[in-house]
Amino acid sequence: MGQPLEAIIAGTGSYAPPEVMDNDYFASYLDTSAEWIVPRTGILTRHRVGKDETTATMAKAATERALKDAGMDVSELDHIIVGTVTADRPLPSAACILQNLLGISEIPAWDLQAACSGLIYGMVMAGSLIQSGLYKNILVIGAETLTRITDYEDRNTAVLFGDAAGAVIMQPSTDPSRCILHHHIGSDGSKYDYVWIPGGGSAEPASQKTVNERLHYMKMRGRELFKFAVGRMEASIDRALEETGIKADDLKLIIPHQSNFRIIESCRKRLKLPREKMLINVDRYGNTSTASIGLGLDEARRTGRLNQGDLVMLLAVGGGMTWGAMIIRL
Ligand code: ACO
Repeated sequence: MGQPLEAIIAGTGSYAPPEVMDNDYFASYLDTSAEWIVPRTGILTRHRVGKDETTATMAKAATERALKDAGMDVSELDHIIVGTVTADRPLPSAACILQNLLGISEIPAWDLQAACSGLIYGMVMAGSLIQSGLYKNILVIGAETLTRITDYEDRNTAVLFGDAAGAVIMQPSTDPSRCILHHHIGSDGSKYDYVWIPGGGSAEPASQKTVNERLHYMKMRGRELFKFAVGRMEASIDRALEETGIKADDLKLIIPHQSNFRIIESCRKRLKLPREKMLINVDRYGNTSTASIGLGLDEARRTGRLNQGDLVMLLAVGGGMTWGAMIIRL
């Protein structure tokens, strides 16, 4: 844990479906309002998939953009890892469905489930596989169709989540200064019910009862999650900076998982960083779980907020509970 990984980001791509839900949409049928939502979460809009879209179709759109950015053909990929909590179906993996949509076969394709920390988990795995010499062009994606597991009758969760995909293509680094300087991932399963879906798995298979009791939707303990996320993100930042000797000021940008503007603000204020050093997209996309960091990374590269040679920190806390951080010299 923590040793540099000689892997770089060769390309990024992202996708969010065109349909947008604003706060007035929720206020039109739920006992809520923009006045409640905005100050507590920072969310103005979130995107929702169309009826023919799925996690894998969004992942495909993000992949095509990442391949174009990397100047690669799809046939050059040699490994696919998809982080998701909303695979198209319980079986097979979203990664295999994506592979089929991409028109390729033979190479390994698999899902990992680490909720909102999934992209960082996937990038740690990809970096290690590259460092080991086993693979050279790894596609890592975070993709989520959270609107399909959100209970639109529950105001506690309905307003928070959206759909998107963020893709990263990783390759071996030929320049020693460009690498993953730090990474750590962790989890605490004692908090498994902070955010969870009680029904539809092997513990409580789908039945009339699970449907009637709405157990196939996400349930959340908002206050506990909030406190845990702030503490854990701050601890991850401290660890990453301490182990590398990098100062917060040296970072060009921090891309935190986007669950709540107030959680991100609390970390920023503790580090005494100016607002422009923290990427925010929760205002436009809501919480997109594994997609949020890839979405942010792609936006930052496309808009010139991040360029080759810059130091960037990725940071996540998610269901499980899981967490992770990474410092990359791009
Ligand atoms: N509109 C109006 N009222 C609402 C809404 C809503 N959309 N949602 C909740 N309320 C009400 C509650 O019912 C409660 O009312 P009551 O006191 O009459 O029971 C009241 O607002 C206060 O609820 P709290 O949960 O205490 O409100 P809080 O200030 O904590 O904000 C929030 C809630 C925004 C969910 C916050 O707790 C939060 O962001 N938690 C973290 C959530 C998170 O990160 N989720 C992501 C999943 S995992 C991850 O990404 C890390």
